[in-house]
Amino acid sequence: MKIHHIGYLVKQISEAIATHEALGYHCITELCFDESRNVDLVFMENDSYVIELVMPKDETSVVWNMLKKRGSGPYHFCYEAEDLETAIRSFCENGFVQVTEPSPTCQILPSVPQVVFLTSRKTGLIELIEKKAIE
Ligand code: NI
Repeated sequence: MKIHHIGYLVKQISEAIATHEALGYHCITELCFDESRNVDLVFMENDSYVIELVMPKDETSVVWNMLKKRGSGPYHFCYEAEDLETAIRSFCENGFVQVTEPSPTCQILPSVPQVVFLTSRKTGLIELIEKKAIE
């Protein structure tokens, strides 16, 4: 499966943007607030590599504890699924647990209407988006 982006948890998103700009990334979206996860996020690109910087707003965010425990850094790979429901079923048959229902993001990327998170002890957190939504 093709990787769509890598998600980074960050403590200070403006500083993280500046740091990644110095590494050759540029913002490909506006900074946006995702109410469902209570995070600020932005997508950046360097050649064909896309990253998503995610900053939890406070302790009510679902990723607050993960940031506190691990510090800033990558925390999920997002893959492009041919069909979301089929991919979810297939991952769950292979030891993954579905963490969220398919849910809309803050619509920062209009081409990515829905995302779903799954996790396994072997690989950690992954995110799936539907490929046909991107094309
Ligand atoms: Ni993501």
